Amino acid sequence: MDYVCLANIVYLGSDHAGYSLKKEIIDNLDALKVKYEDLGTHTTESCDYPDFAAAVSKAVNGKDDALGILICGTGQGMAMTANRMPGTRAAVCTNEFAARMARAHNDANILCMGERIVGPGLAGSIVQAFLSTAFEGGRHLRRIQRIDALAANES
Ligand code: RB5
Repeated sequence: MDYVCLANIVYLGSDHAGYSLKKEIIDNLDALKVKYEDLGTHTTESCDYPDFAAAVSKAVNGKDDALGILICGTGQGMAMTANRMPGTRAAVCTNEFAARMARAHNDANILCMGERIVGPGLAGSIVQAFLSTAFEGGRHLRRIQRIDALAANES
């Protein structure tokens, strides 16, 4: 059976520490015939993860048919940055279950991973789970709307 990716486009970003894993993920996406755009970095030269997290968040924001993948050494800096950007729900995932639940219950629109934490085989499975799982809505929609409502009251 053909793989079903629920996004029409996947935006990718990494820093230098996530560059190699991002390349592996890109090979996987090519094999699965998933459409993607790589927003950098495009070399292994040392760079700063917030710039790429912001670029992918901006690309995904407001597009119901888009998802993002951010990779750094641990995934944490990417997630911290992305979650400060409007419209972003970024989740660090280290296994397939976490990836499925991040989509099904949290409607995460950006997957963050760490090249220093997950190997390429596991990362490929995490990506496939993330891109093929739908948000369940219902009570989970009320809860993610509550995140935005509470954040708006703080600003
Ligand atoms: C880079 O050395 C590393 O700090 C970065 O990729 C990331 O892991 C930060 O969260």
